Amino acid sequence: MRIDVLSIFPSYFDGLTLSLLGKARDAGILDLNVHDLRDWTSDRHRTVDDTPYGGGAGMVMKPEPWGLALDEVAAATERPTIIFPSPAGEVFTQATARDLATREHIVFGCGRYEGIDERVFEYAAALGEVRLISLGDYVLNGGEVATMAMIEAIGRLVPGVVGNPESLVEESHEDGLLEYPSYTKPAVWRERAVPEVLLSGNHARIAQWRRDQQFERTRARRPDLLADDAD
Ligand code: ADE
Repeated sequence: MRIDVLSIFPSYFDGLTLSLLGKARDAGILDLNVHDLRDWTSDRHRTVDDTPYGGGAGMVMKPEPWGLALDEVAAATERPTIIFPSPAGEVFTQATARDLATREHIVFGCGRYEGIDERVFEYAAALGEVRLISLGDYVLNGGEVATMAMIEAIGRLVPGVVGNPESLVEESHEDGLLEYPSYTKPAVWRERAVPEVLLSGNHARIAQWRRDQQFERTRARRPDLLADDAD
């Protein structure tokens, strides 16, 4: 999978050289390229923002550097998926991650300030499939942290990135429920014992207990997930 990121803060993404995604990059499974949007400016100050038409607080990202950057990066393949992280977008879920993990080329455009000139989204739609995606119902300072989260959630679903693919099956949200609790040695720690059933060796009982725990936790912490099920 090829991923390109356009940002005025490319060093945010230095962390993606670490751990599993770093290894996937070294192995050639993930071709991740981070670009400085200011490389597509032509003035001395490398300006990427300007005041909003119609007035109002803050600055808006100018369309020209975005147009040139998209021409070069998004037009490199036929109709890539172009994601603009935005608190005004559709909410990112595990299902979104699973869907996006099948794409060959994703471009992330990280907005800052009060946002990007609206015409950039229209223009990008001529080059690929445009998605505005929100990490959740809160506001970040820009798209960088949201892009990092999405790259990690998507990247780990790309075949070969996580060594043991079984570990992707039994995790929160894969089956619509939260994950069951996990324990390791010692069997008693600070007077707290591991649930007896896990030491029983009875695989059917263990599987049933884990399932019950999933439902109990989901009911207590995320009843909205169970309500969705009933639809
Ligand atoms: N940019 C600012 N806030 C955001 C959010 N909640 N999700 C994605 N991108 C954002």
